[in-house]
Amino acid sequence: MTIRFDDRVAIVTGAGQGLGRTYALELAARGARVVVNDLGGALDGAGSDASLAAAVAEEIRAAGGEAVASTDSVSEREGARRIVETALETWGRVDVLINNAGILRDKIFTRMDLDDFEAVIGVHLLGAAYVTRAAFPVMRKQSYGRIVMTTSAAGLFGNLGQANYAAAKLGVVGLMNALKIEGKKRNILINAVSPIADTRMGAKVFPDFFKEMVQPELVAAAVTYLASEACTASGDILVTAAGHFSRVQVMEGAGVTFDADLEVTPEMVGERYDDIVDMSEPQPHDSALDSFKSLFVKVAPEELAGVVR
Ligand code: NAI
Repeated sequence: MTIRFDDRVAIVTGAGQGLGRTYALELAARGARVVVNDLGGALDGAGSDASLAAAVAEEIRAAGGEAVASTDSVSEREGARRIVETALETWGRVDVLINNAGILRDKIFTRMDLDDFEAVIGVHLLGAAYVTRAAFPVMRKQSYGRIVMTTSAAGLFGNLGQANYAAAKLGVVGLMNALKIEGKKRNILINAVSPIADTRMGAKVFPDFFKEMVQPELVAAAVTYLASEACTASGDILVTAAGHFSRVQVMEGAGVTFDADLEVTPEMVGERYDDIVDMSEPQPHDSALDSFKSLFVKVAPEELAGVVR
């Protein structure tokens, strides 16, 4: 299998440095025409610098590829629309969207200013939603699209001092879960990566030997695959770091079913709590509907049998 992006148009947000830059270079090296988007602000999102996106676009062109720089902010609705417009005006399509732009404003929750909460949600979650909202109709019309969201261990599992970031990063997973259903019939596939990489934002807390191992190129291998025509998956979350790739999935345990005709008390929940939270028989669900079906099987098997018959 050789993965190529000839005649494909890709948008990579936050591509002026770090992981996004690596994705943009890799996609371009494999034939994609790339919108290199980056606002160029500080780690906390303050300010802007147009030279970052311009430099990466120039790097791609110097290597014989095709790229255009975009300095719009993903967290502005109009900016997000213009990022997609840039792709359409330049090349008339949008095949790939990598929602990667991000900022950090870490603080213990009780000391976290709500402006800092909103700013982080604004870039990671709303930014991803705004750019995707602008690109989705284009992909629907083309009956083709590949979207990659960027989540994080902080959102999937929790992290001290990152309430804003964690909420945003699990938010993009929810967005992915809904859009995988809306995109399915039009060949729009949407997945997420949870990376670790030695960038401005990442790997600060890790020892030096690990920092050397978590090179952005290793993450780019997963992102490039998910962005390609070869990928047929949708709704997957891939952990990717230091050459390791694995899947994270939300699953439901077998649980406990009380007779709903009888009174169910908090004491009964407490007494069976260990069984309720037991995850020895985990079950994934493809959608909310799928989860309801499995609930019906547990709480009303006889009625369900009647409906199915
Ligand atoms: P980075 O700080 O090197 O790059 C992020 C880029 O996004 C910057 O160039 C920044 O200017 C740009 N950006 C910020 N706000 C923007 C906006 N409103 N509009 C357009 N561009 C904007 O960080 P890194 O590490 O490359 O992060 C990339 C993504 O990976 C982020 O979503 C981050 O949350 C995620 N991530 C990174 C991890 C790591 O270990 N590096 C771990 C988990 C997730």
